[in-house]
Amino acid sequence: MPEHDEITPIRKQYLQIKRQYPNAILFFRLGDFYETFDQDAETTSRELDIVLTSRNVAKGVRIPMAGIPHHAAENYLSRLIERGYHVAICEQVGDEPVKGLFPRKVVRVVTPGTLLEPGLLPSEANNYLVCIVPGEPDKAGIAYVDISTGEFAATELADSDLSSALRAEMIRLRPAETIHPENISLPDGLPGHFSPLPTWRFEQAYCQDVLLRHFEVASLDGFGLRSLPLAARAAGAILQYLEETQPAALKLLNRFSTYSLADFMALDAATRRNLELTENIRGGGIKGTLLEVLDNTVTPMGKRLIRQWVSKPLLDVDRICRRQEAVSLFFENGLLRAELRAALKPLTDLERVINRVAGGTALPRDLVAMRSTLMRLPALIQLVSDNYPSLSGLLRYFEPCSEELNLLESALADDPPATLHNPGVIRTGFSAELDGIVERSRHAREWIANLESVERERTKIKTLKVGYNKVFGYYIEITRANSNQAPSEYIRKQTLVNAERYITPEMKEYEALVLNAEDRIREIEGRIFTEICERLSASTARIIGSARALAELDVLASLAEAAAVNGYIRPDVVAEDVLSVRDGRHPVVERTLSGERFVPNDVVFEDGERVRIITGPNMSGKSTLIRQAALIVLMAQIGSFVPASSAKIGVVDRIFTRI
Ligand SMILES: Nc1ncnc2c1ncn2[C@@H]1O[C@H](COP(=O)(O)OP(=O)(O)OP(=O)(O)O)[C@@H](O)[C@H]1O
Ligand SMILES: [Mg+2]
Repeated sequence: MPEHDEITPIRKQYLQIKRQYPNAILFFRLGDFYETFDQDAETTSRELDIVLTSRNVAKGVRIPMAGIPHHAAENYLSRLIERGYHVAICEQVGDEPVKGLFPRKVVRVVTPGTLLEPGLLPSEANNYLVCIVPGEPDKAGIAYVDISTGEFAATELADSDLSSALRAEMIRLRPAETIHPENISLPDGLPGHFSPLPTWRFEQAYCQDVLLRHFEVASLDGFGLRSLPLAARAAGAILQYLEETQPAALKLLNRFSTYSLADFMALDAATRRNLELTENIRGGGIKGTLLEVLDNTVTPMGKRLIRQWVSKPLLDVDRICRRQEAVSLFFENGLLRAELRAALKPLTDLERVINRVAGGTALPRDLVAMRSTLMRLPALIQLVSDNYPSLSGLLRYFEPCSEELNLLESALADDPPATLHNPGVIRTGFSAELDGIVERSRHAREWIANLESVERERTKIKTLKVGYNKVFGYYIEITRANSNQAPSEYIRKQTLVNAERYITPEMKEYEALVLNAEDRIREIEGRIFTEICERLSASTARIIGSARALAELDVLASLAEAAAVNGYIRPDVVAEDVLSVRDGRHPVVERTLSGERFVPNDVVFEDGERVRIITGPNMSGKSTLIRQAALIVLMAQIGSFVPASSAKIGVVDRIFTRI
């Protein structure tokens, strides 16, 4: 390597920044490109199939370099993230170079679990970042966050077979990325990418401190973390990780809850796979799963929520019955269901949009989508609130958000440009300052457009012309023959063979107005846009509340739709030892039989019966019957109706199968 002072200043800057991000590919902003160097360049060029070039960094020293255009970065990023790489985005900061060099700073580190870019996120599923902190034998803390929706929760697992319990929870969550202390080894075969981190980052006192600071509280008891130290460590470690990778996301995380696996039906990983709840056994897709049958949702929020419901059947009879009540309502009232689903369908992904607004990454089109969604809320609330006591719990969080709507309607143009680079985002009449400049610029344009005829009239010089070039801007040109008649206030700027060119101070003022107006308008619109986003983010909790209510309505209507389309009945769910299903059917298999009829079967346990043995010839439907019994119980505990002619189902806390 050359001596330090021989290296170009920009190389020095690069090396200094790269040292802080040894485990990420550093995207180093140079003009319109993100450049990668050295090892990073080799990786990038190989993975993205782009040209590897080289760059001089000192006399006679060239290093590998590979660059991608800044405007196409998202596409390239997504391919690197999919392969599990982390990418540190280093931008130029400030408008001016300091000693010939732009200051640069890493603004975020893109990792699979910390995405916010709409183009990189799956819309139909949550994108979870999980943290696992193993403790004393048989215990572990798990925390998970979806920064695109603001969901943040933690729990503590205690199980004599800890690795199975871990696996079950990981299969349920399907995280995009999991962080964990680097000195532990996790069971094999867990889904997602793994990011091991130094152990000190998971220490009790440190993590607790991060949590207290983040939520601005004096104690963690309010979160139910008092007796869950491992859960607190996992949650605190997640916050630290976000601080480093995606600091803008932190302010989106203003809610936190602890949960207990004891509130949900226990389903180990193999059972989930065997029953094909949300992923089929073949490729892991949704085809042929219970989720596919039940999911008739029409919004992205509903789609994510129904996946959660199917993955987490309830144990509490009251909660199950409340869901059933609502499903019943939409089941019996087909017209209401159709109207509701039609009203939900055009809604945008409000959960993610408000998170982008609060995170400062929203674009004009996000606010347009939010406006058209909020506009539809009152009618939707009206639709479901009339005389439906079974939905009243839900409607508590359902707010019309009329103030927010007013703001969007008065501030945002009807059809604003896609980005803030173009003028016209803000509606006329919203800002006197902005309107003033737009008006003055229009006036100045007109003034310049009229100048030629006005000056010809005034000077009586017929050959007077107004022209424009890059060097002088606007000028007045008079042919040599008439130049002696030029008014005394004309200032001569240039002499041509046949003509003289002049300017006037007034003309230059108007010219400056025109030329500066666009910059000024952009600057003011940007400022107003940020203000609107800040005002909206003060309502995050309200809007998220409504988004959740919409999601829930969507899911309830979806379960009712599935029940109506497939001929399900409402099961009687009780807290007793009973299982009695008449004419049960397998919800997935019955839909795949083309031409043949699915033969319904009873599954009835008499009083005191605990075991049944099924025998029969090959291919006679034994496995199907067993799975069907499990699925019907599971559906009932989701709150769904079931494929049978009647069913009485005692809540079960666990299902095992290896079929
Ligand atoms: N009740 C039913 N009505 C109509 N078709 C059914 C029914 N149950 C199962 N089938 C169909 O019959 C076929 C065999 O089902 P299944 O695999 O459950 O049988 P099996 O008895 O477990 O077979 P094996 O002895 O090979 O384990 C499947 O293709 C399934 O779609
Ligand atoms: Mg079988």
